Amino acid sequence: MSTFAAVDVIRTKRDGGRLSDEQIAWVVDAYTHGAVAEEQMSALAMAIFLRGMDAGEISRWTGAMIDSGERLSLEVDRPTVDKHSTGGVGDKITLPLAPLVAACGAAVPQLSGRGLGHTGGTLDKLESIPGWRAELSTAEIMKQLNEVGAVICAATEGLAPADRKLYALRDVTSTVESIPLIASSIMSKKIAEGSAGLVLDVKTGSGAFMKTREQARELARTLVEIGTAHGVATTALLTDMGTPLGNAVGNAVEVAESVEVLKGGGPADVVELTVALAREMLALAGISVDPAEVLASGRAYETWCRMISAQGGDPEAALPKPKHVHVVSAERDGILSTVDAYGVGVAAWRLGAGRARRGDPVQYAAGILCLAKPGAHVTAGQPLLELHTDTPDAVPSALASLDGALTISDTFPTSTSGIVLETIKP
Ligand code: URA
Repeated sequence: MSTFAAVDVIRTKRDGGRLSDEQIAWVVDAYTHGAVAEEQMSALAMAIFLRGMDAGEISRWTGAMIDSGERLSLEVDRPTVDKHSTGGVGDKITLPLAPLVAACGAAVPQLSGRGLGHTGGTLDKLESIPGWRAELSTAEIMKQLNEVGAVICAATEGLAPADRKLYALRDVTSTVESIPLIASSIMSKKIAEGSAGLVLDVKTGSGAFMKTREQARELARTLVEIGTAHGVATTALLTDMGTPLGNAVGNAVEVAESVEVLKGGGPADVVELTVALAREMLALAGISVDPAEVLASGRAYETWCRMISAQGGDPEAALPKPKHVHVVSAERDGILSTVDAYGVGVAAWRLGAGRARRGDPVQYAAGILCLAKPGAHVTAGQPLLELHTDTPDAVPSALASLDGALTISDTFPTSTSGIVLETIKP
């Protein structure tokens, strides 16, 4: 492989140039092995964030991230299909979805991540279950896929290690919201994971990394193109992230809400999106079973219990409770017109649900419960949000990020067409 100086690669992108295939292959490999320093990759990530990449660069960058590690070969006797979300607030869908799709007959290898920016991480949420273990060996993943049909765990050390490093770096360098960096991050892991089908949940709105529908659509098309080019049957749903999904935002609170969904209850928007994504996944897997019926039958909950137990967790154990709860109440009578996803996401993060520096611990009990959804009639003094934290000192800064996030008006908010806005296929 050719060798380059990292400063030259950074300068090329900083000045708006195009990185050659050789430069990309070298810089991703050298960063993975520590020959490109964290501060150099921070600068390059910021240059990519500001200058972008063309389709050829994104494809090559994704290929280099896949090549940084091993590729799993999934030896299971059912069709394999996975889903990945671009990240949102209160987005706990993986938790009910993986066992639901497994209960319908597919194998779901959900290699998941930790919190990124203001969005929560599936592994951080699941680790609030006493005893649950995120790190599994490849042999354990295969065993669980064959015996339970679903596994949610951390990507193994050897899978896309370049993304593992870069993901953590982007989280703390404000370089998350970039189409080339998001697309290559997601697709390198998913292609290396070896699933035959993939459904992408591309979020749009204030709580998403892609704030506008056009940006989200461009990201969705980029993801579908990369997947298809690598032989993975890929579909994307564009979904609304203007307001938090469900009522719970945080770690343990999101697990509790997911369990409600698996037991046949839970908020309507979480159920709607879980079933919509399950339908797409089952279509790619060639399985004609109605996921709504399977959810109602309790079979998905049984699969959840087996999935959690297989990873050392106790599905019946009490979840962590916060040491401090602060209530935010309605200032006046009226109709709740907005609960802004970004404001709520940042507030939950500041309460301790996310991390400020790489490797920081998260608070499992931290988060927010939304006690009313947009469109609800509220009266002055009615509790609207519960802020949960173990560190009460965090409350003032959480409240500051909620400034303007809740609005009460005299008219109903304009109704939207539901949570799924568009479907994007190859
Ligand atoms: N999810 C990922 O895996 N990577 C990103 O960059 C954003 C969301």
